[in-house]
Amino acid sequence: MKPVILVTRKLPEAVEERLQRDYEPILNPTDTLYSSDDIIRMAETVDAILPCHTEKFTAEVIERLPDQVKAIANFSVGYDHVDCEAARKRGLIVTNTPDVLSDATAELTIMLMLGAARRASEGERLVRSRQWKDWSPSFMVGRQVTGKRLGIIGFGRVGQVVAKRARGFEMSIHYHNRKRVEPDLEKGAIYYDTIEALLPHCDVLALHCVASPQTDKLLNRDRIALLPDGAIVVNASRGSVIDDAALIDALQSGKLYAAGLDVFNNEPDINPVYRELDNVFLMPHIGSATAETRDAMGFRALDNLDAIFAGKEPGDRVA
Ligand code: 8YV
Repeated sequence: MKPVILVTRKLPEAVEERLQRDYEPILNPTDTLYSSDDIIRMAETVDAILPCHTEKFTAEVIERLPDQVKAIANFSVGYDHVDCEAARKRGLIVTNTPDVLSDATAELTIMLMLGAARRASEGERLVRSRQWKDWSPSFMVGRQVTGKRLGIIGFGRVGQVVAKRARGFEMSIHYHNRKRVEPDLEKGAIYYDTIEALLPHCDVLALHCVASPQTDKLLNRDRIALLPDGAIVVNASRGSVIDDAALIDALQSGKLYAAGLDVFNNEPDINPVYRELDNVFLMPHIGSATAETRDAMGFRALDNLDAIFAGKEPGDRVA
């Protein structure tokens, strides 16, 4: 008998075809957003769950999952939506999908940087609303990023690809990471052993750290004050790493020139002030949203399930 897999969201066609070939999947063709109660009820007959970051597996939800559920094979690299400690206690295997989304997320990060620096939101709105009336040398003047300093907090897979792309703009790379990386990965990037030491060197700051209790509101009021005046902040990691009130104040006061944000606290019900600010470039959590990457994420989640049901250690086990 094939293992039964609860797939919480509608996945790319090729991924669902492979699921149907190798498993007994419970698919979600209407892409309905399930509640925790729905998931617990639907999990009654399943061997594993393949969720996205939109489904929260708190300690309470994990405790209520039926006993025969062996694994949570996430369709995401981030797994802050799963209480891994609770999973470990219960012997539940948890996997993620690293590597395959680094290029797509780095592309989006560069887009956030350029969109913020060159006032893309304002410009687009002007054209669409027919308010674009004339041109002058001072019209829509923004900031140039070529040759500037890019600071990266979290120099892992995504952070390193962002650095590589930014070098194409002749940006110098400065970073903080829990551990300094090897010189062959650093490629000349300058390491700072604290966030405080890094911040004064960032014309643009990109956040690529993992969301955890340790990184909650990592970019707070005190740290924003350490950035050069007129710096740009971009975030394609998780909203929780930013203190929204502090960032909004800095954008309103002019301390920061602009921000580019793809992730937010409490998505999609974000802090409403962001919508009112001209100097933010906003995207709806689409870092990995390319056809190639979404296929690759699905296949990676399935590789993990294949290993689990073959009695092997999955490649991307996080709990
Ligand atoms: C995904 C992401 O869109 O993988 C992640 O951690 O944030 C995004 O790329 C989403 O999480 C899919 O579940």
